[in-house]
Amino acid sequence: MQVVTISGFKGGTGKTTVASLLGVAAVKYGLRVASLDLDLNTRNLSSFLTLRRASRLQSPDHVMLMDLEQDVRGGAKPKHSGRLEPLIRMARMDGYDLMIIDTSSGNLAEDAEAHLLADVILTPMNESPSDMHGLFAPVGSAAAPRINYREMIETVRFDRKRAGLPVQRWHVVMNRVSSLPSKIGGVINDRMADLAKEVGFEAVWRLRDRVVHRALALEGRTVFDTPADGKLTMSELSGRSEVRSLLALIDRAPARQQLSQAA
Ligand SMILES: Nc1ncnc2c1ncn2[C@@H]1O[C@H](COP(=O)(O)OP(=O)(O)O)[C@@H](O)[C@H]1O
Ligand SMILES: [Mg+2]
Repeated sequence: MQVVTISGFKGGTGKTTVASLLGVAAVKYGLRVASLDLDLNTRNLSSFLTLRRASRLQSPDHVMLMDLEQDVRGGAKPKHSGRLEPLIRMARMDGYDLMIIDTSSGNLAEDAEAHLLADVILTPMNESPSDMHGLFAPVGSAAAPRINYREMIETVRFDRKRAGLPVQRWHVVMNRVSSLPSKIGGVINDRMADLAKEVGFEAVWRLRDRVVHRALALEGRTVFDTPADGKLTMSELSGRSEVRSLLALIDRAPARQQLSQAA
């Protein structure tokens, strides 16, 4: 089973959108998928899946964890919550192929644990300097955010190495990419190519800005759910193939097999 943690200490980058699309795509292609919502504030992934269940649309099996911080009485905030590990172990024993973890934009003990236990970390960002700085500016630099995401990933990777575990794969998802080329897009892409080498993430993967993705939380419908009239727009078909490429990137062996069967 692959554990995929979708994260970034910045709101609105597309974490829940990517988690939703990936979960549905994986289920549609026959993988057994569990998902976990760690965003205790918005619970957006949980609402999306509730909508889908109400419309009887095929979905990942879902867990929403209740607030742990409230249970910590008086003591210092733990670095790791200790609650995810048994959950992931159980999912693995139950024969799930994929566990998708959507995180909040904050830095809670469970978020740290979700990174520590991940096989793949996905970081969505918009093609904008504020997302680039908010996620990747090094500690001490003028643009560095107070809670530093890049530093957290470095710490998690260090902890994994120390525990003798392989370092997680880390992909950036350039999200809401415009179909029109722009100067700022070019600047960001050049800078991200440098950052990939400097920070250690793998290839940047792209997801276009599409109206259909923006409507996810309306009825829970995704590009993978064929409408009643059976007609899909060009944009929906392209949206499918973008998400499929991400799935193939994450769950290499089973996804590739399933995707070729479905082609
Ligand atoms: N590829 C996309 N195309 C269109 N809208 C998008 C896309 N990705 C995200 N959005 C929109 O951007 C907003 C923030 O996305 P969301 O996934 O909720 O971010 P996060 O979970 O990181 O806070 C939402 O309104 C969502 O519909
Ligand atoms: Mg979210």
